[in-house]
Amino acid sequence: MRVLKNYELEEAVKIIKAGGTVAFPTETVYGLGANALNGEAVKKIYKAKGRKADNPLIVHIANEKQLFSITPPLQEDAKKLSLAFWPGPFTMILPKKNIVPNETSAGLNTIGVRMPNLSIALEFIKLAGAIAAPSANISGKPSPTMLSHVLDDLNGKIDAVIEGEKSYFGIESTVFDPSTKTLLRPGSITVEQIEKIVGKINISTSVKANEAPKSPGQKYKHYSPNAKLTVVKQHEPASLKKEPLNYSAANLIKEQLIEVTAENLFEILRDLDKKNISHAYIKYPENMAVLDRVLKAAQYNVLEI
Ligand code: TXA
Ligand code: MG
Repeated sequence: MRVLKNYELEEAVKIIKAGGTVAFPTETVYGLGANALNGEAVKKIYKAKGRKADNPLIVHIANEKQLFSITPPLQEDAKKLSLAFWPGPFTMILPKKNIVPNETSAGLNTIGVRMPNLSIALEFIKLAGAIAAPSANISGKPSPTMLSHVLDDLNGKIDAVIEGEKSYFGIESTVFDPSTKTLLRPGSITVEQIEKIVGKINISTSVKANEAPKSPGQKYKHYSPNAKLTVVKQHEPASLKKEPLNYSAANLIKEQLIEVTAENLFEILRDLDKKNISHAYIKYPENMAVLDRVLKAAQYNVLEI
């Protein structure tokens, strides 16, 4: 596998045009890209990640021309959202044109579309054409926010990676379906920001047992390190003082609490495994998008102290 410098973009473009796979930096997390219009190339992404074939990919575009090659003209809300949030950490579910193969959309008649906000990614996509790309990690593992994470997971399994900085946001894009006004995955673009543009929206970011997922990705295990994770919700000290035993147990846990943010979450999860830590306590995060990842990573193991 080749590690390409930003001045070697032409090489990356050649690999994509020949049906290969190239990981690349974005402002959210690193993506693993292939030509979105080449079903055989896209299959290589699923294979390298060990991703289930029914979990569709996000198509990354760099301009309007690429957008309208894969989807019909945008409805009013979608248009407003694209103007507000693209380029940026925002993915919209849109109808797909027939030119997009089933491998990319996992058989759905819609596709997730995103215009990333990082110049090297935009330049790469502009030259290579629309790129299908999930996060560049082994399925089920924390998403990659730096080159070393991509190398740890995918070295030898993909053709190349474009070297870049640490991802600015550190968590994946917000996923929103404008046709049903439904948030499918929280991210750095917030509910409030979306509601300012399209009014009240529905939120469907986690699925209960026996409920059909609205976005295929919702049903899979995510972001899991080998370490056991406990998400710790703290209550006011006054209510704990009534139970002195609990109080000292709680204090022990408090000393070990890890505070996570969007920027450091995936790095911290990966470091737990590097350090062979078997059990970690994470402070219940306030941010909805961080909380979503943390709860999934901990498989909803929450402790109230
Ligand atoms: O920030 C990001 O979005 C990163 C970077 C690389 O752009 N990509 C990323 O892709 O997170 P991935 O594959 O890890 O997540 C894609 C999510 C999945 O939850 C998938 O189910 C959902 O988008 N998705 C894709 N197409 C969809 C569709 N047609 N309908 C519903 N959900 C869709
Ligand atoms: Mg992913």
